[in-house]
Amino acid sequence: MSALWGGRFASGPAEAMALLSASTHFDWRLAPYDIAGSRAHARVLRAAGLLTDDELTRMIAALDLLEADAASGAFEPVLADEDVHTALERGLIERAGPELGGKLRAGRSRNDQVATLFKMWLRDAARRVGDGVLDVVDALVGQAQAHPNAVMPGRTHLQAAQPVLLGHHLLAHAQSLLRDIERLQDWDRRTALSPYGSGALAGSSLGLDPAAVAAELGFDGPVENSIDGTASRDFAAEIAFVLAMIGVNLSRIAEEVIIWTTSEFGFAVLDDAWATGSSIMPQKKNPDVAELTRGKSGRLIGNLTGLLATLKAQPLAYNRDLQEDKEPLFDSVEQLELLLPAIAGMLSTIRYDTDRMAAVAPAGFTLATDIAEWLVRQGVPFRIAHEAAGECVRVAEGRGVGLDELTDQEFADVSPHLTPQVRDVLTVQGSIASRDGHGGTAPDRVAEQLKRLVDRVSVA
Ligand code: ARG
Repeated sequence: MSALWGGRFASGPAEAMALLSASTHFDWRLAPYDIAGSRAHARVLRAAGLLTDDELTRMIAALDLLEADAASGAFEPVLADEDVHTALERGLIERAGPELGGKLRAGRSRNDQVATLFKMWLRDAARRVGDGVLDVVDALVGQAQAHPNAVMPGRTHLQAAQPVLLGHHLLAHAQSLLRDIERLQDWDRRTALSPYGSGALAGSSLGLDPAAVAAELGFDGPVENSIDGTASRDFAAEIAFVLAMIGVNLSRIAEEVIIWTTSEFGFAVLDDAWATGSSIMPQKKNPDVAELTRGKSGRLIGNLTGLLATLKAQPLAYNRDLQEDKEPLFDSVEQLELLLPAIAGMLSTIRYDTDRMAAVAPAGFTLATDIAEWLVRQGVPFRIAHEAAGECVRVAEGRGVGLDELTDQEFADVSPHLTPQVRDVLTVQGSIASRDGHGGTAPDRVAEQLKRLVDRVSVA
């Protein structure tokens, strides 16, 4: 009988009950954190006079042994263990004997334990995910640095809009990912309070020192409220959102990779190491990394919404529903740990066809705004300038030529203000260079942005 609550029960659980209840198949990964928590707890029991020095020494030795056995697989959970905490108490009793092993549970509950251990696991996971996101940012920054002068047609509504620098576009993705890293860091600051010492919900009567446990487990301090400490999971929902947001941001990059590598676009070619072929069509080179990213982002959103639904109607304090908090988060982290290195590899090795991008940068009359803004600089009100530039597009479209191919006469017919000097802005380079306000696409502004971004990356 290994359950932690047998005393008032005449029989053990039915098999289907045990199967439903068991969580060791997913919460066993919390074992190292559980043991770390047990060591800290043993020390505060000693400080409260509930263990002797000798008992503490033997307890720590037994926990060290259990840790090694759990790591090597020599000790494993069984179905009757119910959860990681129960399994490890069994393991402790097997190593320390029932007398000493049975003393460790004083003043703690699985409710405060599990909330603490889950936070610890997530805080480590958030650091790993943050590092992975940083590698993606590095890949984007590397490509921006490698192509300081490459131009492309910027789009809105997926329609050609205005020419921009490729680096400007890539850094837009880097900016959102860097915010995700900052979100992880903000989340960590809020999450760094330990629920240990909250007991089942009401706190402990044994004079234990939750601040000492918190410090030993790497927290900034203990939670303020034992009911909140055991019952709240907004820390889990919040990081589920950040992980989903990372997935969504990666998915938007992925979508562009998918479009840009089509033969119709021809903006980029994937490195062979980051593409797959077709079992029937010999010519195919498929962007599976990008497609799996787009697909998995849906799964990360599902993990967030599923968790929120689990939480929404639970009265305070702990309810067993909360056991459902872990799998969605474990899954989101696992999926990102698969995705992030692949995305970073794909983005750092993708080859941009900058000639092709430059050739189509003016297509779709992307310089029309430049005509309008040139007229504004000549003192023409924007409403009239916009009309005139639109008429230029209509004339050029009718003749099947680009805006720069309109004759002086055609310009003059549209508006007397459209002198031949307007041609100065009718080049992609001229258009890009003219957008030199803060955050704009002019090469100097993009270079400054890149520098500031690299500074942020270095402290992230
Ligand atoms: N395994 C549970 C969880 O993940 C913790 C156990 C709390 N069980 C209980 N009966 N109070 O939330």
